[in-house]
Amino acid sequence: MKVLIFPTASEAIASVADRVLDEVKRKASAVLGLATGGTMEAVYDRLVLRAQVDDVSFANVKSFNLDEYWGLPPDHPASYHTYMRERLFERIDIKLANTRLPRGDRTDAAAECRAYEAAIANAGGIDLQLLGIGRNGHIGFNEPTSSLASRTRVKTLTEATRQANAAFFDRPEHVPPCALTMGIGTILDARACVLLAIGSAKSAAVAKAIEGPVAATCPASALQLHGDMTMVLDREAAVGLTLIDYYQSVHPDGAQIGAGDPCAPPAASPATD
Ligand code: PGA
Repeated sequence: MKVLIFPTASEAIASVADRVLDEVKRKASAVLGLATGGTMEAVYDRLVLRAQVDDVSFANVKSFNLDEYWGLPPDHPASYHTYMRERLFERIDIKLANTRLPRGDRTDAAAECRAYEAAIANAGGIDLQLLGIGRNGHIGFNEPTSSLASRTRVKTLTEATRQANAAFFDRPEHVPPCALTMGIGTILDARACVLLAIGSAKSAAVAKAIEGPVAATCPASALQLHGDMTMVLDREAAVGLTLIDYYQSVHPDGAQIGAGDPCAPPAASPATD
């Protein structure tokens, strides 16, 4: 696991947006796994700006979002469909037909979840999955005690998660009780994952995710099992980490490769025979 700790939130946000853009530059037909929530808003703002400046096209990109509220139609103002259209999809040249979120308005949730998994598989799997983290350690809407092998399914939200998301609704009691979410197993199938956490409110969850035991009580800890996992943090989100000096020495202030990288290949030595 790569742990990048940036001095400020805006540098952490820029790093994640640039990573997404780099993925699309590398592979024009990239399959992106996308996330919602307050933290991602600034990531999408930066991504839109950088895509314009660097003239990067998303015309061949496909995307799958982590989750959607169960019971909300795509045109509901607080749905994640609406969030994604307004904050990203309508601001870049991605084809709406190539974007997908679980549908919260289907009658058969299990069938919708099966179809979602099949659609990800048909697209060839996810190249890069963006993740936020809840204060309770959730990823997507995989609340504590979610199976670490879970696939896309309906989850009941915790009261804390409903409160955390109440600002997006007219009234707190309007936050739906359930959501459709990719499972932890679905997330772990992505070829690479990047998690962004900003602020001290996330520091306890971040510490458990990175340094705690792999446990269903902290779903994000399952990411320790992923072979290409990058945690992007600002200083406040990193304050609970025991090995913070180590992470900083490997990636000073979030630098991908520090000057004087001790693991750089040794300089070629002159032949002795
Ligand atoms: P937030 O949500 O960005 O609104 O804090 C993150 C999450 O719950 O995954």
